[in-house]
Amino acid sequence: MSDNIFETPKRDFFDVLNTRKTIRKYTNKIPPIEAIKIIADAGRQAPSATNTQNWEFIAIYDDNLKNKMAHCVEKKYDELQSRVNNDIDKAKLNGYKYYSMFFTKAPVVFAIVEKKRVSTMLTILQNSGMTKEELSNYDNRSSILSIGAAVENMSLAATALGLATCWMCAPLVAYQEFSELLKIGKENKVVSLLTVGYPDGDNFSRPPKKTLDEVFRIVD
Ligand SMILES: Cc1cc2nc3c(=O)[nH]c(=O)nc-3n(C[C@H](O)[C@H](O)[C@H](O)COP(=O)(O)O)c2cc1C
Repeated sequence: MSDNIFETPKRDFFDVLNTRKTIRKYTNKIPPIEAIKIIADAGRQAPSATNTQNWEFIAIYDDNLKNKMAHCVEKKYDELQSRVNNDIDKAKLNGYKYYSMFFTKAPVVFAIVEKKRVSTMLTILQNSGMTKEELSNYDNRSSILSIGAAVENMSLAATALGLATCWMCAPLVAYQEFSELLKIGKENKVVSLLTVGYPDGDNFSRPPKKTLDEVFRIVD
């Protein structure tokens, strides 16, 4: 990618779509703020249920803050591990911890915030006297789906700009601590991190995808 982001050649949409892959290792080079703004703006363009746009994208450059977040994640995983009493599950949790921590090495980390949204339909049903359990049958999770659309837009925009990303949920064990560190209010929640940086190398593999036949069928 050129240092002048506006000189970056535009890539074909399907080329970007088909080549996007998770990359977890970055060079020290800091992506320019213009690129980060373009990525955030791609998130802003995403569809959202009833157009609520109940999101905020916080770009974290501050290494000190990243380290504080990582410390909270590590502490939380240690706590969780101490509650598990068999070695196999402990080792599995350790795997999650491992795949949580490298965001500190990413030059920029987006914290993706889901802002509190009151579903009109669920409120109506709750007021009709439904129990929590019954209500869950009518929760279509549109809020988190909308945010997923935003994160994917951001990831594709980063790929188009020659940057690499990793969408992360494993660090969210510390979401309460993230709320405090990022001062987003208790009613809002960090639901993903998205790391952004220049890929350190050019031969990262991508896990295989299922074939189209496995995931698609036509009903006519
Ligand atoms: C919702 C979501 C959460 C993820 N969380 C993590 C994570 O916490 N740590 C990590 O290393 N990768 C995480 N990933 C990346 C996946 O492992 C990756 O997308 C998957 O292996 C497919 O690879 P690809 O993105 O290169 O197609 C996450 C991906 C998604 C969509």
